[in-house]
Amino acid sequence: MREVAIVSAGMGNFGEIWDLSLRDLFAQAAFQALDNAKTDHLDALYVGNMSAGKFVEQEHIGPLFAERIGMAGVPAARVESACASGGVALRCAYLEVASGASDLVMAAGVEKMNDGADVTQVLATASDQELEAYHGVTFPGLYAMIARAHMKAFGTTEEDLSWVSVKNHRHGAKNPKAQFRREVSLEQVMGSSLVAEPLRLLHCSPVSDGAAAVILCPLDQAKKYTDRPVKILGSGLATAPMALADRKEIPFLGAVQLAAERAYKMAGLGPKDIQLAEVHDCFSIAEICCIEALGFVEKGKGGGAAKSGLTALGGKIPINTSGGLKSKGHPVGATGIAQAIEVFEQLRDEAGDRQVKGARTGLAQNMGGSGASSVVHIFGRA
Ligand code: COA
Repeated sequence: MREVAIVSAGMGNFGEIWDLSLRDLFAQAAFQALDNAKTDHLDALYVGNMSAGKFVEQEHIGPLFAERIGMAGVPAARVESACASGGVALRCAYLEVASGASDLVMAAGVEKMNDGADVTQVLATASDQELEAYHGVTFPGLYAMIARAHMKAFGTTEEDLSWVSVKNHRHGAKNPKAQFRREVSLEQVMGSSLVAEPLRLLHCSPVSDGAAAVILCPLDQAKKYTDRPVKILGSGLATAPMALADRKEIPFLGAVQLAAERAYKMAGLGPKDIQLAEVHDCFSIAEICCIEALGFVEKGKGGGAAKSGLTALGGKIPINTSGGLKSKGHPVGATGIAQAIEVFEQLRDEAGDRQVKGARTGLAQNMGGSGASSVVHIFGRA
């Protein structure tokens, strides 16, 4: 396998975006990435997207998007793994370049959620239809059950959940592309309206539109496109039982741990070597469970991490310096690519007020549904 680098990134603002269509959202990010790499060529395009068919009634987006950026003819396909679609698109692009099949590949992600569809119902299609969705369970409901199970097993409190939101909004306030660029207090989080007990409005990621794109090439060609490439050191993808009822321990995210083990092994690194991470905080309990499964804290100890400052900017392992899904926004198919872009910018010293000084390694963890799929990438300065 060849060594692979990310050489360029493009991303528009996340939020409620009414003046760009699905394909234009993608094109905005894709053209930025192409311009930054000073190229108008691609060998292939992978687009992470959860459900354009249900959100805006547009399937078959690979060829549509290739044509939109003037590249009809280029191999192009959509990649789907629910909210992990972007991360899995990145893995497809990585493997294609690593294998030697292609030299210049774009991995993009896009979702337009605010176009009138019943968002909660569309998202619920990523849960087990027969065992969960059919009975009326929604994603806030599933993560509420995970939160309850974590509270019961480890004594995690509603305040612990709330500190994750306080921290991520604090980070997101420094991110010009974030949907919610404002800080929130502990009192505001704990006083926000209940969505699915114990989860409140400010424990939830929002409904978002957005797109993001990166360009990958072999490391030994990277200097053609940038003087600061970022290496992909490891990539791991894993799955777990989809229905919560089929899992041995509900608050334990097995797919995250397995994907991380695979990525750590490939990179020859462990959790202690990682200097910052973007993790999938679709609900604040998810960040708590993910940092445990990634090995940043011991099992059961995730609850205290945000309050103690461990996972804040300036802490030992800053988590979600972008603001995370909570504050930056969560256009589901775009999230995995946006996470990679935050790490890319951090490792190039381009993160502005959010910069983790001297960071040389970073990790991005993206997750599908309530954790039935997860993909982890580890990056390093080249
Ligand atoms: N965090 C912070 N503020 C939020 C928010 C969020 N997650 N969601 C909405 N808001 C704000 C809106 O900006 C709006 O503010 P305004 O009155 O100042 O304009 C206000 O709250 C009401 O917004 P509205 O769109 O009516 O909220 P809603 O009740 O329809 O939706 C949720 C709130 C939490 C149900 C919705 O954001 C949601 O479903 N989130 C989860 C998405 C999800 O499941 N993703 C996949 C994860 S696996």
